[in-house]
Amino acid sequence: MFDRIDHIGIAVDDLEGQIAHYRDVLGLPLVHRETVESQGVEAVLFDVGENHVELIAPLGPDTGVAKFLAKNGPGLHHVAYQTTDIVAALATLKERGVQLIDEEPRVGIRDSRVAFLHPKSTGKVLTELTQPAHH
Ligand code: CO
Repeated sequence: MFDRIDHIGIAVDDLEGQIAHYRDVLGLPLVHRETVESQGVEAVLFDVGENHVELIAPLGPDTGVAKFLAKNGPGLHHVAYQTTDIVAALATLKERGVQLIDEEPRVGIRDSRVAFLHPKSTGKVLTELTQPAHH
C-alpha cells in the first residue's frame, strides 16, 4: 500500500528562523515553497535524499496548524506515507477500521493528492497519505 515515507511535517511558528536552521545548519536543499490554502499553511520542502522535511506555518488563527501550535507548541506534526493509489489506500484503511479525517483526497503541495488519518486510530500520530502528481 505504501512505497516509503514521503516526508515528516514539522509545525513552526517562526518559519524564516526554521528555514535558516534546516537550510544553513542542517544543510538541506530548500526545493519548494507554497501557500497551500486547502491545509491553511505556508509550506516549505527540503530534500533529504528521496524524502522530505516539510515545514508548515499557519496562514491564520483558525487553521488546524494554528490550533496545534497553541496546544503543543512547535515540533513534529505529522508523518506522510507515499502511495501510488490514494483512493484505494483510503478504502483499505477504512475497511480496516481506521478513522479518516479526509474521506476523499484533497489537493496538497505540488499538486499532490493528500488525505489525513485521525490520530485517534493511529496511536496519536497524525498520519498523511500522499500521492505525488507524477504518479
Ligand atoms: Co505533509
